[in-house]
Amino acid sequence: MVKLIGRTKINCAVFISGRGTNLKSIFKYSKTIKSKIDLKLVISNNYNILGVEFSKKNKINTKIIDYKKLKHAEDHIIKHLRKNNIKLICLAGFMKILSNDFIKKFKYHIINIHPSLLPKYKGLNTHERAINNGEKYSGCTVHFVTEKLDSGKIILQDRVKILKSDNPQTLAKKILILENKIYPKAIDLILSKI
Ligand code: GAR
Repeated sequence: MVKLIGRTKINCAVFISGRGTNLKSIFKYSKTIKSKIDLKLVISNNYNILGVEFSKKNKINTKIIDYKKLKHAEDHIIKHLRKNNIKLICLAGFMKILSNDFIKKFKYHIINIHPSLLPKYKGLNTHERAINNGEKYSGCTVHFVTEKLDSGKIILQDRVKILKSDNPQTLAKKILILENKIYPKAIDLILSKI
């Protein structure tokens, strides 16, 4: 582990399922002087995705998990987390639901980014629902993960105006830019308090 200004960095894992732009922004943050994390591990439930391509290209220890059986998958994940002494898990577009047992084991050590202004629009199709409900703003939220979906304590949010011309795709694009900015900030924020 790397020592920085008298402090030990926290070993971090990022869980992904897709294109991995949030993984990229966390990776970039981990390489800055002020970073409080070492990005030690990437967990993915998919093989052929941009996120895995990025992770391997940057020589991050990357594990693809077979999710046919949840218990089996999570046992594997836990083995890798323990082996790498992971203290912070960042869900970044990870589209598998973690079991309550798993969440209990790592309580207060798992955070997630969600593309809405929680507590509004938990779950899927957030942009479509925000537009259809005539919301003036939408955004993204980094929060702690608890047993209840998208309901843990909020760490950081940012918002953007929904324009009349927006559709779910344009809104998703605008919000993703915010997501990539706030995820590293949220990590920095929680780690500055310990
Ligand atoms: C992001 O928009 C993230 O908020 C969303 O998946 C996308 C992943 O993008 N997560 C969820 O919807 C979780 N409920 P990325 O792979 O480019 O980071």
